[in-house]
Amino acid sequence: MNRKNTIALKAENLKLVKGGKEILCIDDFALSEGEVTALVGPNGAGKTSLLLTLALLERPAQGKLHFNGTVATHQNTLFLRRQMAVVFQEPLLMDTTVLANVMTGLQMRGLPARLARPRAEDWLNRLGIAHLKKRQALRLSGGEAQRVNLARAFALEPKILFLDEPFAALDYPTRKSLLQDLGKILSETKVTTLFVTHDYTEIPCLAQRVVVMLNGRLIKSGTVEEALGAAPFPQISIPWELPQA
Ligand SMILES: Nc1ncnc2c1ncn2[C@@H]1O[C@H](COP(=O)(O)OP(=O)(O)OP(=O)(O)O)[C@@H](O)[C@H]1O
Ligand SMILES: [Mg+2]
Repeated sequence: MNRKNTIALKAENLKLVKGGKEILCIDDFALSEGEVTALVGPNGAGKTSLLLTLALLERPAQGKLHFNGTVATHQNTLFLRRQMAVVFQEPLLMDTTVLANVMTGLQMRGLPARLARPRAEDWLNRLGIAHLKKRQALRLSGGEAQRVNLARAFALEPKILFLDEPFAALDYPTRKSLLQDLGKILSETKVTTLFVTHDYTEIPCLAQRVVVMLNGRLIKSGTVEEALGAAPFPQISIPWELPQA
C-alpha cells in the first residue's frame, strides 16, 4: 500500500535560550503523521527542552512551528495546545478519584460529563485499570498512576502525543507490561508520537523512527536500525558515539 507521508509537525530554525545559554539550535525537525519517533541522547542533550518547545510549553527565541500546515502564533497557541497531550515521568495526578482525573481534562475542553464519563471509562478500560476508577489517584502504585496518566492523555484524543521518559521510574515487570499495552494502543490509534527514552530496548517496541540529540542539536535520524545500529537488541551501540554517516 502506498501511504502518503504527511507532516504532522514541523520545526524550522528553532533556537531556545535559557539563563542566557543556547539550549536548542535545530534547523529542521519533523514528525510524520501516524508515526512514533523516539528521541534519544545523553542527559542534558535538550530532549525535554525540545519536547516542551514543540508542545508550545516553552517559547523559543527564534523559529517557526507548523502543525498540519498551520503556523503557531501567539493567537492560536491555546487552540494548538489543545490538539496535543504530554506525559511526563511523574504522573502529576490530581488529589481526587482516578475517574475524575481522566474526566477533568475533557470537561475543561468543554465536553459535558455525560460524554466525558464514557470516554474516560473506555480509556481506563483500554489501559486495564477500569477497576481502579473510584480509587484516590494519589494512593496508587507508580505503575497504576502512570496508566491513569496515559488514559488521561489518550482520552483527550490528541493529534500529537509527547511522552517524556514515561517508564523511567517503573520497575522492570511493570515497565514491560505497560510497554506492551502502550505499543498496542499506539498502533491502534496511530497517533503521531514523540517519545523520549534512555532505554533503547523500549524503542523497537514503540517507534518507527529515531532521532538522536547532542548538545541541543540533532545529530542523526533514521529508522531504528539506521540510528541505533543493527539488532540484536539490546546490545545497541551508543548512537552519539558512532561515526556520523
Ligand atoms: N532554566 C534553565 N536555565 C539554564 N539552563 C537550563 C534551564 N533548563 C534547562 N537548562 C539546560 O538545558 C540543557 C538541556 O536540558 P534538558 O532537560 O532539555 O535535557 P534532557 O536531554 O531532557 O536531559 P535528561 O536526559 O537528563 O532528561 C541542560 O544543559 C540544562 O542544564
Ligand atoms: Mg529530560
